[in-house]
Amino acid sequence: MAGDKTQGRHETDGTPGAGKEGRFEDPVADLPGFHQTSSTIAIAGHPLHAMSVAFPVALTFCTFGADLFYWWTGDAFWARAALWAGGMAFLIGVAAAFTGTLELLFVPGIRARAAAWTHAGIAVVLLSVLGANWGYRLGGYEDAVLPYGILLSGFGVLMVGATGWHGGRLVFDYHLGTSDTGN
Ligand code: HEM
Repeated sequence: MAGDKTQGRHETDGTPGAGKEGRFEDPVADLPGFHQTSSTIAIAGHPLHAMSVAFPVALTFCTFGADLFYWWTGDAFWARAALWAGGMAFLIGVAAAFTGTLELLFVPGIRARAAAWTHAGIAVVLLSVLGANWGYRLGGYEDAVLPYGILLSGFGVLMVGATGWHGGRLVFDYHLGTSDTGN
């Protein structure tokens, strides 16, 4: 019931799953290594995933920007720029996803959190869009821009925004992939 403060709680009546204060406890939090969330796929303590994601994010925006300039000017330079930016966005995106997947699989506290798997799901959709956008252009980069290339680029911008925003939440809200050596 809305406004009912006892919602999600249980009186201390010995109900299995109810803790000392009557709150239901999350059994996932009892998994071994649940609190081990530091990045291990790192160089000198710097997480590889966080270092590499900036490139596909920026290149996805560049692809869309180059498409817009091609639409505006008709200059083939921009269509070729979009081909290269889109290809690099996809290839470096796959490399970044590889480091993220290692983090997901090998760090127990990251593996245990549903939000990390949600991020992986969104990222796979993004990589599919980036791959389709690049592959479509390989058959003729100028003809590919209008209308489908630019539409794919626009969708890529939306998806990279969602993926990056969600990745940021993993770090800033859940503190995943951070260091436990600082104070
Ligand atoms: C299946 C592929 C992926 C997996 C499993 C994955 C997993 C993760 C994980 C576990 C984190 C938390 C930080 C860490 O442990 O390093 C993270 C953060 C992040 N991810 Fe991914 N990721 C994937 C692909 C991507 C892609 C393709 C992008 C964007 C192009 C992306 C963007 C981000 C961003 C921006 C952060 C926040 C980094 C920071 O602020 O330090 N991820 N990802």
